[in-house]
Amino acid sequence: MDIPNKIVDNHGRTLDYVRLAVTDRCNLRCFYCMPEEGIDYLPKKQLLTYEEMERMLRVLAQMGISKVRITGGEPFLRKDLMGFLHRVHAIEGINEINITTNGVLTAPHISELKELGIKSINLSLDTLDRERFFRITRRDELDKVMDTFHALLAHGIGVKINAVVMEGQNTEDIIPLAQLAKDYPVSVRFIEEMPFNGGGNNHPVLNWDFLKILDELQSAFPDIQKVADAPHATARHFVVPGHAGNIGIIAAYTRTFCGTCNRIRVTAQGGLKTCLYGSDVLNIRDLLRNGETDESLALSLLQAFGNRAKNGYEAEEQSQLLMPSFASMSTIGG
Ligand code: 5AD
Ligand code: SF4
Repeated sequence: MDIPNKIVDNHGRTLDYVRLAVTDRCNLRCFYCMPEEGIDYLPKKQLLTYEEMERMLRVLAQMGISKVRITGGEPFLRKDLMGFLHRVHAIEGINEINITTNGVLTAPHISELKELGIKSINLSLDTLDRERFFRITRRDELDKVMDTFHALLAHGIGVKINAVVMEGQNTEDIIPLAQLAKDYPVSVRFIEEMPFNGGGNNHPVLNWDFLKILDELQSAFPDIQKVADAPHATARHFVVPGHAGNIGIIAAYTRTFCGTCNRIRVTAQGGLKTCLYGSDVLNIRDLLRNGETDESLALSLLQAFGNRAKNGYEAEEQSQLLMPSFASMSTIGG
């Protein structure tokens, strides 16, 4: 079989973007992502090796995936991440690599990231207040994250701040975080909280949704304006005249962007997710370890891509039937 060089799913959406979690470990314990105690990390042999990830990415790139985001857990906890990034960079067809990091261990690698041509990094940062940072992440590491923020800017690498908006935790941080975009050319994105904390602790009603976040921004910045979004953007973008950067809101819970979804996810143990809200639909690790050829791997992938849920609600419904509580975001990679 010839591997086709473009993926179109069963709802007509072209897929060109993979989010790859390189580890399930994290050095923070953000309560919306992980329970404080008792997270069982995967034994190393259950994780995809770098060789396996590289081979998988090569096959995906042949099929038309051109953009990779490295996620975790915290990607910089995986040994020799930089070596792996060099290998990903060399894959034909991959023309954009991005990383999502909590910024604690990132600063020492920034010159090398720049040399590699990494244009933009997503930095998870929910507050600028040290005590609230500690309350949310259960670690006292705000200074290191801010060092990373400034080092990225100094190197001319684009920065997107990801801030999860949590009732009773950091809503007083919305405006101070948004002010970062006043002084710096960064995108500050507010994310609706999703029910993925590894504890099955769903919130049936989301108070701080897209509209409420926008309302809060409008009261502080009355002249805030909507600007155009890139075709597959999950964030809706706004600017305040005179500000250096912009502000985004990601309706991750309300799920208003599924109609143009161009992305797939691979977990650290090689699980393929064709929707963030769905369960694994294929175990790529097992296929690779069972001696499948690239062609048969591509065939299995195509089958999964041809069976995607139409949106996050449908995916959630299907996965609830299989597994009634949600996984931790640290295994999914956001
Ligand atoms: N709801 C919304 N966003 C989340 N993230 C992690 N857990 C959640 C959640 N429950 C986001 C973090 C990080 C990205 C990888 O996922 O902000 O930036
Ligand atoms: Fe770590 Fe990110 Fe999860 Fe926080 S949200 S615990 S930084 S993986």
